[in-house]
This record gives sequence, C-alpha cells and structure tokens, in this order.
Amino acid sequence: MAKLCVNVDHVATLREARKIDMPDPLEAALLAEKAGSAGITVHLREDRRHIHDRDVRAIKKAIKTKLNLEMATVPEIVEFALKIRPDQVTFVPERRQEITTEGGLDVTVRQRKMRKIIESFRKKGITVSLFIDPDPRQVRASSDLGADAIELNTGQYSQTKTGRKLKTELDKIEKAAALSDGLSLVTHAGHGLNLNNIRPIASIPVIEELNIGHSIIARAIMVGLGAAVAEMRKAIVIKPSRK
Ligand code: PXP
Repeated sequence: MAKLCVNVDHVATLREARKIDMPDPLEAALLAEKAGSAGITVHLREDRRHIHDRDVRAIKKAIKTKLNLEMATVPEIVEFALKIRPDQVTFVPERRQEITTEGGLDVTVRQRKMRKIIESFRKKGITVSLFIDPDPRQVRASSDLGADAIELNTGQYSQTKTGRKLKTELDKIEKAAALSDGLSLVTHAGHGLNLNNIRPIASIPVIEELNIGHSIIARAIMVGLGAAVAEMRKAIVIKPSRK
C-alpha cells in the first residue's frame, strides 16, 4: 500500500495572503502527522511565494515522520537543502509564472550537472527523487543518473475526466511504474490527485508514496469550516457580568 505524504504549501499560501503568522504550515504538518500522514512535503520556491526557509527548518525539527523537500536544482536552494538535510528531496522544474508545477523534469538533458547534484545529496544520506512525466525515456534517464526514486507526474491523468484518454493516461503511468520498478527505482506519484481519481493510482502495487496537497487542504476547509464557525459563535456570546 502506498504511503501518503501531505503537501502543506497551501497553508502557507493562505498565510501569505495576509503576511501574518497564521495559518501556520508547521501546525498543519503536525495535524497531518497525527492523522496518519507518513511524511510532510513542502516546495521551497525560488520566489518564496508560500513556504519560507524558516518553515522548512521548523517542520524538519518538529515532525517525527519524513520531510520531503520539493525544489529546483538552482544553486541557492541546493545549498540551503544540503544544510537543512531533509530526509528526501524531489527535484522539480520551476517557472516563476506558473501557478503550480506544470510538468515533469526533462532529465535527458544537462545530465552532467544533474548527476553531480544528485551525488551531493546522496552522499549526505538524503534520498533523491526526480519528478518526471510517465515517459519511458525519462524513467530510464532517471535510473542512469543514479536517482533513488522517481515521482510520476499524475497531472495529465488528473486533468482527464473520462473516456479513452483517461485510460491512455493511466496506461502511461502503469507502464512507467513497472519500468521504474524493473530498474530498481522506488516509485512515487503525485499532482492533482483527489478523492475521485486516487483509486486507480493507489491500486498500482509498485507505487510506494503519494504526494497530495491541493485536494486535501481544499477538503480540510469544507470539513473544518463548520467547527470554526461554531467556535467563533461561542466566543462572541459574551455572558453578562453579575453585579
Ligand atoms: N508532487 C509535486 C512534485 C508537486 O510539485 C506537487 C505540487 O506542489 C504535488 C505533488 C502535489 O500536487 P497537488 O497539490 O495537486 O496535490
């Protein structure tokens, strides 16, 4: 059975809407752990639009499960990550203008640089995962580069609602997962997964880890809003003082 790692970036996104100290992604990480999450995922973006360096430090220090740090392979973030030593890094492509990660890495290019970076993390005992599209060329190249794991991008699958195209997208993921396993890579998957589309992906036996953020945080608002309103109503009721 695949383990769930909860991505708490969106908690920081909400915090940054006000630039104050709530909601706190660390508190969310601890709640997710308490609810059985096997790990916490955060993406430290170059523009620090949601997660900040201090969040990564605080989460790394406080959680009891594993920290998976999503990051681009840019020198500044690489240096930070090597210092912080998360349990796992997942290298992702990053574009400033994108709303979220839009596609997998192309690991068939600039391989010398990538190999060096992968080595520097593995030397420190940090697991290296590469976020790639479910494409056999990318899976083979990931193995050649010496990565420990790949995370198959389920974004395309998640955006496909019904019909033959959905089967095609699922087939690609199943085949890439089988190839990854055959090459002794650990297989993860993530992006766009939710309660409606998770089953076929969670049924792929070789997938060991699922990284899910948006749908869980979105759902948390809906299942938690009632309690938050009730709490505030209770706080508003001021009892008349007895004089
Ligand atoms: N995996 C990777 C590599 C990602 O970049 C993201 C988004 O930060 C996720 C998984 C989680 O995607 P979602 O928020 O759509 O569940």
